[in-house]
Amino acid sequence: MSQNLRFLSGRHGVPSQMEDMNAAGILSAAAIRETAQRRGFPATALYGAASFYDFLRDEKKAHVCTGTVCRMSGKEPEVRKQLAARFSPDEIGAMACVGHCYQAGGFEVGGRTFDASGLAGAIPYRTTLADPVFGPVEDIDALFGAALADAAEIVAQLSASGLRGRGGAGFPFARKLQSCAAHAGEKYLVCNADEGDPGAFSDRFLLEQRTELVLAGMLAAANVLGARTGFIYLRAEYPDAVAIIEAAIERYKLSRGADGFDFRIVRGAGSYVCGEETALLNSIEGLRPEVRVRPPFPAENGLFGRPTLLSNVETFAAIPWILARGGAAFAAIGNGRSTGTKLLSLDHLFVRPGVLEVAMGTKLSEVVYDLGGGFTEPVKALQVGGPLGGVLPIDYVKRLSVDFESFQEAGFLLGHASIVAIPQAFPMTEFLTHLFEFMADESCGKCFPCRLGTRKGADLLAGAAQQPIDRNLFDGLLDTLEHGSLCALGGGLPLPARNILTHFPDEMAAYFAQGGAK
Ligand SMILES: Cc1cc2nc3c(=O)[nH]c(=O)nc-3n(C[C@H](O)[C@H](O)[C@H](O)COP(=O)(O)O)c2cc1C
Ligand code: SF4
Repeated sequence: MSQNLRFLSGRHGVPSQMEDMNAAGILSAAAIRETAQRRGFPATALYGAASFYDFLRDEKKAHVCTGTVCRMSGKEPEVRKQLAARFSPDEIGAMACVGHCYQAGGFEVGGRTFDASGLAGAIPYRTTLADPVFGPVEDIDALFGAALADAAEIVAQLSASGLRGRGGAGFPFARKLQSCAAHAGEKYLVCNADEGDPGAFSDRFLLEQRTELVLAGMLAAANVLGARTGFIYLRAEYPDAVAIIEAAIERYKLSRGADGFDFRIVRGAGSYVCGEETALLNSIEGLRPEVRVRPPFPAENGLFGRPTLLSNVETFAAIPWILARGGAAFAAIGNGRSTGTKLLSLDHLFVRPGVLEVAMGTKLSEVVYDLGGGFTEPVKALQVGGPLGGVLPIDYVKRLSVDFESFQEAGFLLGHASIVAIPQAFPMTEFLTHLFEFMADESCGKCFPCRLGTRKGADLLAGAAQQPIDRNLFDGLLDTLEHGSLCALGGGLPLPARNILTHFPDEMAAYFAQGGAK
């Protein structure tokens, strides 16, 4: 069924059906009927898709950030009080992370995001590298010129660089590019700018403050594929980025003429799972954004059923430096297996919060204590790599380095490398409950282990103070989530849950029934 709908949606190609739905604004029967009629698309299928999203039925005038950092910061009540002076309670909604974690107390009003003090300044960026990959752009023409160079040479440099995807899984970029290029017919390019991990804001930094790096990286990949259209799937929680990217696209069009590459922004509508690559593709198509079974992978059968290269913002943004300095220079940075540099998001509890660029392989202790300056209050653990990343006790900082291997070998995950500090005083059960609640809200519902398991876990944890949880039951739930889930949303949740149970047994003991412990 959805295969037919995919091709039906694809018949119209671009603009995408999701753009239409966003343009229609508030979800209403009339808007659905009108869009369905114009698209020649079943209204029921469109309703099924549109009703999935929080913000397509959201008439709020302001949104308070309820992401992990803002929640732990305790600034939420203060922000709500400020907003209550301007808006009635039913005009104030919530957004799970507006990317102001370096200040905390974020909120959105009128398509702009702010921190608790009402400021909307640039994200602080620091690096110790003399020639950083993500430094300020000096010569925009040279960037786009290099992206349009000989395609075989671009592939050679990207292969030599060892660049691995920065969206979390670390898949070799050149291999994905070549695999997509090998398929026949029209191809698409998609930049995953959904950055849904609460605590992460390095993609927001690139999209707003290094926009041309992202566009030039996409253009180079499109050049290799012979693709004419590239989509930037941008989360709704980053409204400020829209105008900035649009202006950069306009500048590109003016400098390159009418036959340039077609960049299109598709705005998300408040769904975390839309960061998962196949859900994201369904979302652009205007289908219900449930995760697709893989294979086939997007490189073979992606957007509108065509071969599609989908990569993260930071992955694309690294390409211009590689083309300018050569793949070998990129590969020379890092530990050999994780090459190049990595952006880290340091939250507001760091003495020097913001985006930090370091060479892969940099010791985590150097990041936290030397570059980040340590913390402004006692911290017991770090959540690295978002809600599906690991939770590491603070003394593990001495044992790890910023690369995929070090984290994986120690039972954690580098992921997209956001670093959220968990204060000594914040209860770990509350943290774990928050993770389960978040996943229960964001599960796409396609597979039962995740749809039912995340909700069951959230309910058990919420009631654990009154009714301690049978540890065997909980371990079984984690096993089912890990092995039975279709994607890493349900399948990845057991990692932080087990980290917390293993490393904070004293705090968790009161919430679990004795005797059943593994
Ligand atoms: C639940 C879930 C959410 C995800 N969210 C994002 C995201 O916000 N941004 C992103 O680039 N990748 C995200 N990913 C990973 C993507 O599926 C995909 O692996 C990535 O975009 C590929 O780009 P890369 O090869 O450049 O890393 C998510 C995966 C899952 C399972
Ligand atoms: S694990 Fe969760 S998010 Fe992933 S496919 Fe299953 S229900 Fe959907």
